[in-house]
Amino acid sequence: MQNRPEKLINDGVRLDGRGPDEIRPIKIEAGVLNRADGSCYIEWGGNKVLAAVYGPREAHPRHLQDSRKAIIKYRYNMASFSVEDRKRPGPDRRSVEISKVSREALAPVLMLEYFPRSSIDIFVEILQADAGTRTTGITAASVALADAGIPMKNLVSAISVGKADGEVILDLIREEDNYGEADMPVAMITETGDITLLQMDGNLTGEEFIKALNFAKKGCESVYKLQRRSLIEKYEKSCSD
Ligand code: CDP
Repeated sequence: MQNRPEKLINDGVRLDGRGPDEIRPIKIEAGVLNRADGSCYIEWGGNKVLAAVYGPREAHPRHLQDSRKAIIKYRYNMASFSVEDRKRPGPDRRSVEISKVSREALAPVLMLEYFPRSSIDIFVEILQADAGTRTTGITAASVALADAGIPMKNLVSAISVGKADGEVILDLIREEDNYGEADMPVAMITETGDITLLQMDGNLTGEEFIKALNFAKKGCESVYKLQRRSLIEKYEKSCSD
């Protein structure tokens, strides 16, 4: 891994030229895979993430079936070539944890009770990673679920906030994530303000925490607009085809 840069923030300007509350460029495309029921591809700064959704379909193995509602399976997978030091293929503790918290971040918006004994399967492939892959994955999965036509109360948007060189910052890059003082991924139902995921590594004062949460809310509002737009574009395209 590269060495810590001397400064992460110089006179309010971050390594990639952003201000503290600015997000990286984001491109979201819905419906990119023909064989999945729903899909989404996101480029978010240096992250490239693909999400595919299958279902609702009969849950297998059958002992996993819930007679009252659908179950959700979420697999977050980081490709070997997605990071600087080759990642060993296959699941590890980190990906199991991220899969669990991501599934829980999306569950509140899904109308699972409509589909007893079924499974909704979500696959998130990290093709290129530059910090914030769990939040990019949740954002992509949310669009892919809507693209699959699964009844949802709303979309979930996600972004990370944190602190570097003593400043609260929005949407961390890898250097800020690795060498900063705090990293806090947040997922929310932007329209209601309900938070469905909140994790934190590092330290923040109470005041900084409130500021970070406000940054996250602002970030999620921008992400939410892009998610909606990607779905509208997909349906406009399929209507004109
Ligand atoms: O990606 P996210 O911020 O959700 O999770 P993290 O565990 O805080 O990882 C931050 C970043 O570290 C990742 O996005 C990757 O860029 C990098 N990383 C890596 O280089 N190799 C790994 N095995 C795991 C993470």
